[in-house]
Amino acid sequence: MLKTHNCGDLRAQHVGQEVTLAGWVHRRRDHGGVTFIDLRDRAGLVQVVLRPDAAADASLEAVAGVRSEYVLRITGAVVERSDEAKNPNLASGDVELQATTLEVLNEAKTPPFAISDDIDVDETLRLEYRYIDLRRPAMVRAIEMRHGVNQYIRNFMTERAFSEVETPIMVAATPEGARDYLVPSRLHHGSFYALPQSPQQLKQLLMVGGLERYFQIARCFRDEDLRADRQPEFTQLDLEVSFVEEEDILSLLEEMFIGLTRSLRMDLNVPTPFPRFTYADIMERFGSDKPDLRYGLELSDCSDLVRDSEFGVFRGAIESGGRVRAIVMPGGAELSRKRVEEFTALAKTMGAKGLVSIQFTAPPADATEDDVRSPVLRHLGLETVQAIGTRCDAKSGDLVLLAADVDGVVNTVLDGLRREIASRLDLASPDILQYAWVTDFPMFERDEQGGRWNAQHHPFTAPLRADESLLDSDPARIRARAYDCIANGYELGSGSIRIHQRALQSRIFHLLGIGAEEQEARFGHMLRAFEYGAPPHGGFAVGLDRVVMLLMGVENIREVIAFPKTQSATDPLTGAPSTVASDQLDELGIRLAAPPVLHDM
Ligand code: AMO
Ligand code: AMP
Repeated sequence: MLKTHNCGDLRAQHVGQEVTLAGWVHRRRDHGGVTFIDLRDRAGLVQVVLRPDAAADASLEAVAGVRSEYVLRITGAVVERSDEAKNPNLASGDVELQATTLEVLNEAKTPPFAISDDIDVDETLRLEYRYIDLRRPAMVRAIEMRHGVNQYIRNFMTERAFSEVETPIMVAATPEGARDYLVPSRLHHGSFYALPQSPQQLKQLLMVGGLERYFQIARCFRDEDLRADRQPEFTQLDLEVSFVEEEDILSLLEEMFIGLTRSLRMDLNVPTPFPRFTYADIMERFGSDKPDLRYGLELSDCSDLVRDSEFGVFRGAIESGGRVRAIVMPGGAELSRKRVEEFTALAKTMGAKGLVSIQFTAPPADATEDDVRSPVLRHLGLETVQAIGTRCDAKSGDLVLLAADVDGVVNTVLDGLRREIASRLDLASPDILQYAWVTDFPMFERDEQGGRWNAQHHPFTAPLRADESLLDSDPARIRARAYDCIANGYELGSGSIRIHQRALQSRIFHLLGIGAEEQEARFGHMLRAFEYGAPPHGGFAVGLDRVVMLLMGVENIREVIAFPKTQSATDPLTGAPSTVASDQLDELGIRLAAPPVLHDM
């Protein structure tokens, strides 16, 4: 090793020792004949003092040419700093290194941005120079946290007799609801491998293969619209178990999430046991299947109170199959008309036709007309307004916001308002990691055109036994044996008990509009496997990037991935995706229908 110690590890106990350090120049200051260098390595910083005077080794003279991010190797003595020179903000701040020799291991150009956590740099520039960005302490912590998560999981699963199996990346398409990334075959022109959206089919085949307990820290690829919590390429803890029911999977994962969080973020409060909600219940109460449960702000249904009112907007919405639901902003009565209008504007961006506000300056039950501010007080009448306030459990000083529409719209709008209100009131404590389970998802949903049925989870999910009789009569009402784990407003993972019988699987495919011929072409291997003694089985997949995000307390998935893609799925560092030489395309039997569209980085 070129070094005996890490810079950031030096402490009072090392005083008197001669050590050799190697690292980067974080900062350099000159004080008449003395140079101070903050030398940085992965473990942190230490202050080095260099006095290149006549008595010193000649090598110290090189310090004159040293600049930020030069790579140095320095030998010297660890000395205690004088009391007034101690730096309590630095882990090594009680000591410094008195340099005796200096070696410049490499020079560095001026970096495009400072190596500091409180910089405000364009993210594309950070990604283009990711190798410099990775030197920032927050990135070092994120990468180490990721390692910690992987390590914890491998131990946890190994202790419970799971085997890690690597499944192939070059496979046939597996549907998870996104577009596939395709890889053209050179040996079979016109044929393509698909990168797996998940190892779903393969892990089920491992169960048919008798593995019984499989896990993998698996890379998944999905060509879908990117958001702050989505990457085209991401990592799952993927697992599958034979001879299980829902409860087995939920309790296994609950134990893992609790242990993982406690071991990596001891300071976080993890309420246990995780609360459980059915999908129907959580949508009714929060308008979302992944609400942030660190705060309440539950929704109320006021439809029955306004059904017969004179207010045409509400009556009309109910008559055409919608409902009127409400959310309360505590203390919102003092907001100006303009501030309240901001909620209406926000609601409209989420698809609302409007928003009704009621501000109470007295307890709703006793409120007079003078205690109520609402543009629709006249239309609704005082009595109805009082009843709405009471239904929502509004207090004196609160603001009630009501949206009228079909459930899909009202849910989106009130979920959005709920997040906005929580953010304005600062209700989401950063010290809590509030996990929860959501079960009994609908098996199917209509596609965007409202025509075909799609699987809400994926087509391999089993229906609830009690609902199997609805397969022919009323697919919309069938619930799936599917479950999600959510935390602080994110979906962390999903899973289900699977279909393991050919007849049922084939029936579900038919319902999804996949006819016999297409079933054979796309899923023949699954259907055949189910005919050779497939055990009952089920599993789960956890989005590990999101887990690390929550453990790091960041809101952008790119902050916890060493080399992430941009929002438009490009990599500014390597230039991917890139064009390829025409002879490479020829080999693959590919001719471009149009000249390549170049992306800017
Ligand atoms: P699902 O599609 O719900 O289930 O994925 C499981 C979890 O993976 C994470 N995730 C993502 N993370 C980052 N970027 C993405 N683009 C992305 N897409 C998904 C989420 C999600 O909850 N095979 C099933 C699991 C099973 O049934 O066992 C599956 O993949 O955190
Ligand atoms: P309008 O009759 O469209 O002028 O609306 C009267 C009031 O009702 C305004 O305050 C609108 O913001 C509100 N409003 C209109 N449509 C809806 C709706 N679907 N849900 C809740 N409020 C609405």
